[in-house]
Amino acid sequence: MARRKKLFEGKAKILYEGPEPGTLVQYFKDDATAFNSRKKSVVDGKGVLNNRLSEYFMNGLNMIGVPTHFIKRINMREQLIRQVEIIPLEVVVRNVAAGSLSERFGIEEGSALPRPMIEFYLKNDELDDPMVTEEHAVAFGWASQHDLDEMVALALRVNDFLSGVMLAVGIRLVDLKIETGRVWDNDFQRLIVADEISPDSCRLWDITSNRKFDKDVFRRDLGNLAEAYTEIARRLGVLPSNITHAVKPHVIN
Ligand code: TMP
Ligand code: ASP
Repeated sequence: MARRKKLFEGKAKILYEGPEPGTLVQYFKDDATAFNSRKKSVVDGKGVLNNRLSEYFMNGLNMIGVPTHFIKRINMREQLIRQVEIIPLEVVVRNVAAGSLSERFGIEEGSALPRPMIEFYLKNDELDDPMVTEEHAVAFGWASQHDLDEMVALALRVNDFLSGVMLAVGIRLVDLKIETGRVWDNDFQRLIVADEISPDSCRLWDITSNRKFDKDVFRRDLGNLAEAYTEIARRLGVLPSNITHAVKPHVIN
Protein backbone atom coordinates (compact mmCIF):
# COMPACT_ATOMS: atom_id res chain seq x y z
CA MET A 1 0.00 0.00 0.00
CA ALA A 2 1.35 3.42 -0.89
CA ARG A 3 2.35 5.58 2.07
CA ARG A 4 -0.04 8.47 2.38
CA LYS A 5 1.30 11.94 2.02
CA LYS A 6 2.00 14.02 5.12
CA LEU A 7 0.95 17.60 4.41
CA PHE A 8 1.70 19.35 7.68
CA GLU A 9 2.98 18.57 11.14
CA GLY A 10 2.11 20.87 14.02
CA LYS A 11 2.79 20.71 17.73
CA ALA A 12 -0.09 18.39 18.62
CA LYS A 13 -1.38 17.05 15.29
CA ILE A 14 -0.36 15.84 11.85
CA LEU A 15 -2.40 16.38 8.67
CA TYR A 16 -2.32 13.76 5.91
CA GLU A 17 -3.85 13.77 2.48
CA GLY A 18 -7.42 12.42 2.69
CA PRO A 19 -9.07 9.63 0.70
CA GLU A 20 -11.05 12.06 -1.47
CA PRO A 21 -10.35 15.54 -2.82
CA GLY A 22 -11.28 18.18 -0.28
CA THR A 23 -10.66 15.89 2.70
CA LEU A 24 -7.74 15.42 5.08
CA VAL A 25 -6.87 12.97 7.82
CA GLN A 26 -6.08 14.64 11.15
CA TYR A 27 -3.84 12.58 13.47
CA PHE A 28 -3.64 13.45 17.19
CA LYS A 29 -0.17 13.07 18.74
CA ASP A 30 0.62 12.52 22.42
CA ASP A 31 2.92 15.54 22.45
CA ALA A 32 2.09 18.29 24.91
CA THR A 33 3.60 21.73 24.48
CA ALA A 34 3.10 25.02 26.25
CA PHE A 35 4.53 28.51 26.11
CA ASN A 36 5.19 28.11 22.39
CA SER A 37 7.08 24.84 22.89
CA ARG A 38 9.39 26.17 25.59
CA LYS A 39 7.86 23.39 27.70
CA LYS A 40 7.45 19.98 26.07
CA SER A 41 6.43 16.51 27.11
CA VAL A 42 4.82 13.35 25.83
CA VAL A 43 1.62 12.42 27.64
CA ASP A 44 0.59 8.85 26.88
CA GLY A 45 -3.03 8.73 25.81
CA LYS A 46 -3.52 12.47 25.22
CA GLY A 47 -3.93 12.06 21.46
CA VAL A 48 -6.55 9.35 21.86
CA LEU A 49 -8.50 11.43 24.38
CA ASN A 50 -8.38 14.64 22.32
CA ASN A 51 -9.46 12.75 19.20
CA ARG A 52 -12.57 11.54 21.08
CA LEU A 53 -13.29 14.83 22.79
CA SER A 54 -12.91 16.88 19.62
CA GLU A 55 -15.18 14.37 17.83
CA TYR A 56 -17.77 14.72 20.58
CA PHE A 57 -17.79 18.54 20.58
CA MET A 58 -17.63 18.96 16.79
CA ASN A 59 -20.34 16.35 16.23
CA GLY A 60 -22.59 18.23 18.64
CA LEU A 61 -21.86 21.51 16.88
CA ASN A 62 -22.61 19.97 13.48
CA MET A 63 -25.91 18.66 14.86
CA ILE A 64 -27.07 22.09 16.06
CA GLY A 65 -26.08 23.74 12.80
CA VAL A 66 -22.71 25.24 13.68
CA PRO A 67 -20.55 24.20 10.72
CA THR A 68 -17.25 22.43 11.49
CA HIS A 69 -14.57 20.61 9.51
CA PHE A 70 -15.33 17.31 11.29
CA ILE A 71 -16.65 14.47 9.09
CA LYS A 72 -16.03 11.27 11.09
CA ARG A 73 -13.60 9.55 13.40
CA ILE A 74 -11.54 6.90 11.59
CA ASN A 75 -9.74 5.20 14.48
CA MET A 76 -8.29 5.87 17.94
CA ARG A 77 -6.04 8.69 16.79
CA GLU A 78 -7.40 9.86 13.44
CA GLN A 79 -10.39 11.69 12.09
CA LEU A 80 -11.54 12.57 8.61
CA ILE A 81 -11.97 16.32 8.16
CA ARG A 82 -12.85 18.78 5.46
CA GLN A 83 -9.91 20.58 3.95
CA VAL A 84 -10.10 24.30 4.68
CA GLU A 85 -7.99 27.34 4.09
CA ILE A 86 -7.05 28.20 7.68
CA ILE A 87 -7.51 31.82 8.72
CA PRO A 88 -4.25 32.65 10.53
CA LEU A 89 -6.04 34.01 13.59
CA GLU A 90 -7.00 32.30 16.83
CA VAL A 91 -10.28 33.46 18.34
CA VAL A 92 -10.42 33.37 22.14
CA VAL A 93 -13.69 33.71 24.07
CA ARG A 94 -13.51 34.31 27.82
CA ASN A 95 -16.28 33.90 30.37
CA VAL A 96 -14.12 34.07 33.49
CA ALA A 97 -10.77 35.87 33.92
CA ALA A 98 -7.72 33.58 33.73
CA GLY A 99 -4.36 33.15 32.04
CA SER A 100 -3.04 35.99 29.93
CA LEU A 101 -6.07 38.22 30.57
CA SER A 102 -5.44 38.07 34.32
CA GLU A 103 -1.73 38.71 33.81
CA ARG A 104 -2.13 41.53 31.31
CA PHE A 105 -4.70 43.51 33.28
CA GLY A 106 -4.04 42.34 36.84
CA ILE A 107 -7.51 40.82 37.18
CA GLU A 108 -7.78 38.00 39.70
CA GLU A 109 -8.17 34.55 38.14
CA GLY A 110 -11.70 33.31 38.62
CA SER A 111 -13.40 36.73 38.43
CA ALA A 112 -16.57 36.47 36.36
CA LEU A 113 -16.56 38.74 33.31
CA PRO A 114 -19.59 40.96 32.63
CA ARG A 115 -19.98 39.47 29.15
CA PRO A 116 -18.12 37.00 26.97
CA MET A 117 -14.96 38.71 25.79
CA ILE A 118 -13.47 38.06 22.38
CA GLU A 119 -9.81 38.42 21.47
CA PHE A 120 -7.86 37.65 18.31
CA TYR A 121 -4.31 36.31 18.25
CA LEU A 122 -2.09 35.94 15.20
CA LYS A 123 -1.03 32.34 14.58
CA ASN A 124 2.70 32.91 14.36
CA ASP A 125 5.12 30.97 16.55
CA GLU A 126 8.09 33.20 15.69
CA LEU A 127 6.20 36.18 17.07
CA ASP A 128 4.75 34.15 19.99
CA ASP A 129 1.12 34.52 18.79
CA PRO A 130 0.66 38.24 19.52
CA MET A 131 -2.79 39.64 20.29
CA VAL A 132 -4.14 41.66 17.36
CA THR A 133 -7.04 44.03 16.85
CA GLU A 134 -9.61 43.73 14.07
CA GLU A 135 -7.95 46.74 12.46
CA HIS A 136 -4.59 44.94 12.31
CA ALA A 137 -6.26 41.84 10.85
CA VAL A 138 -8.02 43.75 8.06
CA ALA A 139 -5.13 46.12 7.28
CA PHE A 140 -2.59 43.29 7.03
CA GLY A 141 -4.93 41.06 5.05
CA TRP A 142 -5.27 38.18 7.53
CA ALA A 143 -9.08 38.36 7.34
CA SER A 144 -11.75 40.67 5.96
CA GLN A 145 -14.16 42.53 8.22
CA HIS A 146 -16.85 40.11 7.05
CA ASP A 147 -14.64 37.15 8.00
CA LEU A 148 -14.05 38.65 11.43
CA ASP A 149 -17.80 39.09 12.00
CA GLU A 150 -18.35 35.46 11.01
CA MET A 151 -15.54 34.33 13.29
CA VAL A 152 -17.01 36.18 16.26
CA ALA A 153 -20.47 34.69 15.57
CA LEU A 154 -19.03 31.16 15.31
CA ALA A 155 -16.91 31.57 18.44
CA LEU A 156 -19.89 32.80 20.49
CA ARG A 157 -22.02 29.86 19.33
CA VAL A 158 -19.25 27.41 20.20
CA ASN A 159 -18.89 29.13 23.58
CA ASP A 160 -22.63 28.85 24.33
CA PHE A 161 -22.76 25.23 23.22
CA LEU A 162 -19.66 24.16 25.11
CA SER A 163 -20.66 26.10 28.25
CA GLY A 164 -23.93 24.16 28.37
CA VAL A 165 -22.43 20.76 27.58
CA MET A 166 -19.79 21.18 30.27
CA LEU A 167 -22.15 22.64 32.88
CA ALA A 168 -24.25 19.49 32.52
CA VAL A 169 -21.29 17.46 33.80
CA GLY A 170 -20.29 19.89 36.55
CA ILE A 171 -17.60 21.81 34.71
CA ARG A 172 -17.31 25.56 34.11
CA LEU A 173 -16.03 26.66 30.70
CA VAL A 174 -13.66 29.47 31.66
CA ASP A 175 -12.38 30.27 28.17
CA LEU A 176 -11.76 28.67 24.82
CA LYS A 177 -9.84 29.11 21.61
CA ILE A 178 -11.09 28.19 18.17
CA GLU A 179 -9.63 28.32 14.71
CA THR A 180 -11.67 28.80 11.59
CA GLY A 181 -11.16 27.96 7.94
CA ARG A 182 -12.59 28.97 4.60
CA VAL A 183 -14.49 26.48 2.45
CA TRP A 184 -16.17 26.86 -0.92
CA ASP A 185 -19.59 25.40 -1.59
CA ASN A 186 -20.02 26.00 -5.32
CA ASP A 187 -19.61 29.75 -5.71
CA PHE A 188 -20.21 30.54 -2.04
CA GLN A 189 -17.47 30.79 0.50
CA ARG A 190 -18.00 30.61 4.23
CA LEU A 191 -16.05 30.00 7.40
CA ILE A 192 -16.34 26.84 9.47
CA VAL A 193 -14.85 25.74 12.79
CA ALA A 194 -11.56 23.89 12.19
CA ASP A 195 -8.54 22.51 14.10
CA GLU A 196 -9.69 20.92 17.37
CA ILE A 197 -11.87 21.58 20.39
CA SER A 198 -10.30 19.84 23.38
CA PRO A 199 -8.94 20.53 26.86
CA ASP A 200 -5.72 21.59 25.07
CA SER A 201 -7.50 24.69 23.81
CA CYS A 202 -9.90 25.68 26.58
CA ARG A 203 -9.99 26.05 30.35
CA LEU A 204 -12.28 23.71 32.26
CA TRP A 205 -12.76 24.06 36.02
CA ASP A 206 -14.85 21.89 38.31
CA ILE A 207 -17.95 23.90 39.17
CA THR A 208 -17.65 23.36 42.94
CA SER A 209 -13.96 22.77 43.69
CA ASN A 210 -12.49 24.89 40.84
CA ARG A 211 -10.09 21.99 40.16
CA LYS A 212 -8.55 22.37 36.71
CA PHE A 213 -9.06 19.72 34.02
CA ASP A 214 -7.30 21.39 31.08
CA LYS A 215 -3.80 22.08 29.74
CA ASP A 216 -3.04 24.38 32.69
CA VAL A 217 -2.45 21.10 34.60
CA PHE A 218 0.59 20.68 32.34
CA ARG A 219 1.53 24.37 31.99
CA ARG A 220 1.52 24.89 35.76
CA ASP A 221 2.56 21.39 36.94
CA LEU A 222 -0.70 20.83 38.79
CA GLY A 223 -0.78 17.05 38.39
CA ASN A 224 -1.31 14.38 35.78
CA LEU A 225 -2.63 15.75 32.47
CA ALA A 226 -3.86 12.41 31.10
CA GLU A 227 -5.79 11.86 34.32
CA ALA A 228 -7.46 15.27 33.96
CA TYR A 229 -8.50 14.65 30.32
CA THR A 230 -9.64 11.14 31.25
CA GLU A 231 -11.97 12.65 33.85
CA ILE A 232 -13.50 14.99 31.25
CA ALA A 233 -14.03 12.09 28.84
CA ARG A 234 -15.47 9.94 31.64
CA ARG A 235 -17.96 12.62 32.70
CA LEU A 236 -19.06 13.11 29.08
CA GLY A 237 -19.41 9.35 28.59
CA VAL A 238 -16.86 9.15 25.76
CA LEU A 239 -13.96 7.45 27.54
CA PRO A 240 -12.26 5.06 25.09
CA SER A 241 -12.52 1.52 26.50
CA ASN A 242 -8.78 0.89 26.42
CA ILE A 243 -7.98 3.95 28.53
CA THR A 244 -8.65 2.74 32.03
CA HIS A 245 -5.95 4.54 33.92
CA ALA A 246 -3.87 7.55 33.08
CA VAL A 247 -0.14 7.15 32.62
CA LYS A 248 2.26 9.59 34.23
CA PRO A 249 3.73 12.05 31.73
CA HIS A 250 7.49 12.05 31.33
CA VAL A 251 9.20 15.34 30.63
CA ILE A 252 11.59 15.17 27.69
CA ASN A 253 12.96 18.69 27.94
P1 TMP B 1 -4.50 32.62 27.40
O1 TMP B 1 -5.13 32.97 28.71
O2 TMP B 1 -3.16 31.98 27.53
O3 TMP B 1 -4.47 33.79 26.46
O4 TMP B 1 -5.42 31.52 26.70
C1 TMP B 1 -6.80 31.69 26.52
C2 TMP B 1 -7.41 30.39 26.05
O5 TMP B 1 -6.99 30.08 24.73
C3 TMP B 1 -7.03 29.18 26.88
O6 TMP B 1 -8.14 28.32 26.99
C4 TMP B 1 -5.94 28.50 26.10
C5 TMP B 1 -6.28 28.85 24.68
N1 TMP B 1 -5.08 29.04 23.86
C6 TMP B 1 -4.73 28.08 22.94
O7 TMP B 1 -5.40 27.07 22.80
N2 TMP B 1 -3.61 28.29 22.17
C7 TMP B 1 -2.83 29.38 22.30
O8 TMP B 1 -1.85 29.51 21.57
C8 TMP B 1 -3.23 30.37 23.26
C9 TMP B 1 -2.41 31.62 23.45
C10 TMP B 1 -4.34 30.16 24.02
N1 ASP C 1 0.78 28.93 23.40
C1 ASP C 1 0.02 27.79 23.80
C2 ASP C 1 0.20 27.44 25.27
O1 ASP C 1 0.76 28.19 26.06
C3 ASP C 1 0.24 26.62 22.92
C4 ASP C 1 1.68 26.22 22.69
O2 ASP C 1 2.57 27.00 22.81
O3 ASP C 1 1.87 25.07 22.37
O4 ASP C 1 -0.21 26.41 25.68
